[in-house]
Amino acid sequence: MPTERTSIHGQWSNRLAFILAATGSAVGLGNIWKFPYIAGENGGGAFVLVYLLCIAVIGIPIMMAEVMLGRRGRQSPINTMRTLAYEEKVSPAWRWLGWAGVLAGFLILSYYSVIAGWALAYVFRAGSGLFTGLTADGVQSIFSNLVDEPERLLAWHTIFMVMTMIIVGRGVRSGLERAVRLLMPALFVLLLVLVGYAWNTDAFDQGLEFLFTPDFGAITANGVLIAMGHAFFTLSLGMGAIMVYGSYLPDNASIAKTSVTVSLMDTTVALLAGMAIFPIVFANGLEPGAGPGLIFQTLPIAFGHMDGGAFFGMLFFLLLVFAAWTSAISLIEPAVAWLVENHGMSRIYAAALAGMVTWGTGLLTVFSFNLWADFKPLGMFAVFEGYTIFDLLDYLTANIMLPLGGLLIAVFAAWQMRRESSVEELAMGDGFLYGLWRMLVRYITPVAVIIVFLHAIGVL
Ligand code: PFF
Repeated sequence: MPTERTSIHGQWSNRLAFILAATGSAVGLGNIWKFPYIAGENGGGAFVLVYLLCIAVIGIPIMMAEVMLGRRGRQSPINTMRTLAYEEKVSPAWRWLGWAGVLAGFLILSYYSVIAGWALAYVFRAGSGLFTGLTADGVQSIFSNLVDEPERLLAWHTIFMVMTMIIVGRGVRSGLERAVRLLMPALFVLLLVLVGYAWNTDAFDQGLEFLFTPDFGAITANGVLIAMGHAFFTLSLGMGAIMVYGSYLPDNASIAKTSVTVSLMDTTVALLAGMAIFPIVFANGLEPGAGPGLIFQTLPIAFGHMDGGAFFGMLFFLLLVFAAWTSAISLIEPAVAWLVENHGMSRIYAAALAGMVTWGTGLLTVFSFNLWADFKPLGMFAVFEGYTIFDLLDYLTANIMLPLGGLLIAVFAAWQMRRESSVEELAMGDGFLYGLWRMLVRYITPVAVIIVFLHAIGVL
């Protein structure tokens, strides 16, 4: 029998609601903004292959582990880890894993919100018909005009943070469930429209080849780390976001099926984004390694040349904002749930407090694109050559904190928790599939993460 615990924050109406919320968390800027540009920077095909492999053998099993821990603990990740460590009679120090997740979520949201601000700004730029007929150069200068101005970035960042805090303050269930149900399919359809446009460019084959033909010479040890880090980032793993969503999951829902469904949807969206973007990159003589501005410098070309482009462009960026929004709330939910549980705060108050701290940290990213664009704090190390504060924040969180968090989650779920506990909570019997999951989480994930880390720092 599962534990009798219930969450004080409420519960999803059913399994579908959880799938939608978890997909809402997973599908975000990571799929549409980040995946294409890091794939572009790391040579394409081989990077994509490593990423897909990481999703399958690390991502899905870790997602199951996180949902399982969350549902069993039924509290914020910090308190869940404390409770489970107590029940499993292991060190209370495991609660620090919850804390590390809160810190990672807060750091990620600080820059995530700035980029989501770009998407917000583009809703209006697209809607006003600004992109009509533009060439690559024109689109590039619209992008620079935006990011060169700290005040502008700050304003959009502020608006996005306020939007996020309002939803978090209202609670996970009201509003959120319904919004995701409608917006996710719409985003999917719009991506298909863009792939359709890309198909008609004369570089569709070249784009696909770049994305799907592995050239192992083009990837470095650091590139492998980035691919693995991105598998965690894109599935929202390693920091408690999926754990806290799991804590609102009804007892009778299948953890394995939901995790596989969410991961498949997330991967499909990323691949579609890549298939839309790279043909446009090549058809217009752009650079696949252009960096964080990639989608903002490519998609407007497509919108500027298709019928009804102003409308579709506006709709696309609006949906991107929604995708970012449903991810952003999950980044801060672990902290907010903890403030409510341990400090008796109302959700509104907790959200405002967490939001203000995150907003302030976001200034580091805002200035990374203009005033401090030439400040490269770790430029003396070869790997970090040319990294701004924003690049470093992203590297630290996605490539180090999330995989490390995932590694520890794996160790807890498969080495510290009793086998009976995980058999009971996963509720998929004790047969082949359970054995496969346990083997992956017990051996493959920790070993893979450690090997990739060691490679990246040059020890192996
Ligand atoms: N998965 C989100 C994306 O791909 O945009 C980002 C994210 C959300 C990362 C929640 C981590 C997290 F906990």
